[in-house]
Amino acid sequence: MAAKLFSPYTIKGLTLKNRIVMSPMCMYSSHNEDGHVQNWHHTHYTSRAVGQVGLIIVEATAVTPQGRISPQDLGIWSDDHVEGFQELVGLMKEHGAKTGIQLAHAGRKAVLEGEIIAPSAIAFNEKMKTPKEMTTADIAETVEAFKKGADRAAKAGFDVIEIHGAHGYLINEFLSPLSNKRNDEYGGSAENRYRLLREVIDAVKTVWNGPLFVRVSAHDYHEEGLTAEDYITFSQWMKEQGVDLIDVSSGAVIPAHIHVYPGYQVKYSETIKNGTDIATGAVGLITSAIQAEEIVQNDRADLVFLARELLRDPYWPRTAAKDLGVTIEAPKQYERGWI
Ligand SMILES: Cc1cc2nc3c(=O)[nH]c(=O)nc-3n(C[C@H](O)[C@H](O)[C@H](O)COP(=O)(O)O)c2cc1C
Repeated sequence: MAAKLFSPYTIKGLTLKNRIVMSPMCMYSSHNEDGHVQNWHHTHYTSRAVGQVGLIIVEATAVTPQGRISPQDLGIWSDDHVEGFQELVGLMKEHGAKTGIQLAHAGRKAVLEGEIIAPSAIAFNEKMKTPKEMTTADIAETVEAFKKGADRAAKAGFDVIEIHGAHGYLINEFLSPLSNKRNDEYGGSAENRYRLLREVIDAVKTVWNGPLFVRVSAHDYHEEGLTAEDYITFSQWMKEQGVDLIDVSSGAVIPAHIHVYPGYQVKYSETIKNGTDIATGAVGLITSAIQAEEIVQNDRADLVFLARELLRDPYWPRTAAKDLGVTIEAPKQYERGWI
């Protein structure tokens, strides 16, 4: 049996050596609170490149200081950030990985000093700050910040840009009627709630020709919230705008209970993939090779994203190859101990 998990995958001219993606994970390690890349990022990301991950997506990286989740988040709001990312990209590429970055704005989920912003002045929960309702000028500035972030990501040499539209951060807050109570052209109908994301994608595309991914939360887990069916419509619009892949996560726009089990979000990937005819990534409690292979063999997703399992085992691709009985290339220095 040839493992599909280890077959190359080409998306918009970029070929990944396998279907394994390192899911974006905040490291909260920009110790000087200035958004800059630190040694930890070099060690952490490069280890997964040595471990033969096909595509590594660098954690949520803020397009404005106010859009950070925490003061220690990575940032890309200044030209000064480019050099650090260039170095990081170079290190990952040296080991054959393709590289991506997740561009993000935390919206009402920012835990920062000072004012935070969101579509509506509603706090996420009683412990969090009440955000300021964004003006149309705030929205325009945010769209411009995503565009500039994308331009800097291109200069840093990333192969993929992923826009963070999930987990209850700013873009997700606009998409969901649970967090967006606006009465203007950015609230109300699905078209209006989608408008911020539409503008962000269009702006990013003026400076970025490479593969563009969007991460979504395809279920709000609330009776008045969005479901994967709603995300078929959004994904059709994204496809029309030239988005190449939907990275399908779920939840966190409100503090709802989520029943989790192995592969609990794969069904949403499948719904969007079948409903939209667009490439998707599946994520969420995918930990074994058999599980990952089943997902790609059954076309439930094109790529498999792993987060926590890659924290436990940075060489998970090697572990998975062994489990599936296939041999993958070792870093030259490790050949004597790889098989
Ligand atoms: C430490 C940590 C940090 C995370 N940071 C991000 C992030 O920056 N962006 C994002 O979209 N998801 C983030 N997530 C969610 C993961 O990307 C992933 O969707 C989630 O952990 C489920 O996958 P898993 O079961 O393989 O861990 C984070 C998860 C963890 C454990």
